[in-house]
Amino acid sequence: GAPVEVNIGKIQPGQLIRAEWRGKPVYIVRRTEKTVSNLAKHDDQLRDPNSEKAQQPVYATNAYRSIKPEFLVALGVCTHLGCAPTHHAGDFDQFVEGVPNGFFCPCHGSKFDMAGRVFQGVPAPLNLVVPDHSYINDDTLLIG
Ligand code: FES
Repeated sequence: GAPVEVNIGKIQPGQLIRAEWRGKPVYIVRRTEKTVSNLAKHDDQLRDPNSEKAQQPVYATNAYRSIKPEFLVALGVCTHLGCAPTHHAGDFDQFVEGVPNGFFCPCHGSKFDMAGRVFQGVPAPLNLVVPDHSYINDDTLLIG
């Protein structure tokens, strides 16, 4: 499939937008500063906090799983059986009534943080996939 250009100039902090690439949903989230700083605080609850088993480009193999800490780009495809996780935004990074600030898969209850990293004790085995991506300019993301 051809790379897909996405205008990210109007995404508000905390907001998610969706794109489609190779027939798959791609989630693009503009993380708040607080969400970014909270990413390091729950590593002990994650199955693969350093994304050693996860699929992401080399340039996104870091604490944010991204090029720019502010933006997460990940496939909206649960690594269990492929459902679309729902996005739960908030300026915190804890479970609230069982739902994290991150992604919750309605099919069998898998939970992922705001870097797409899977929590322990859920069916999904792996972190969400980060696809190849780059920035054409500050407002334009290229996926693929
Ligand atoms: Fe997401 Fe099963 S498909 S938890």
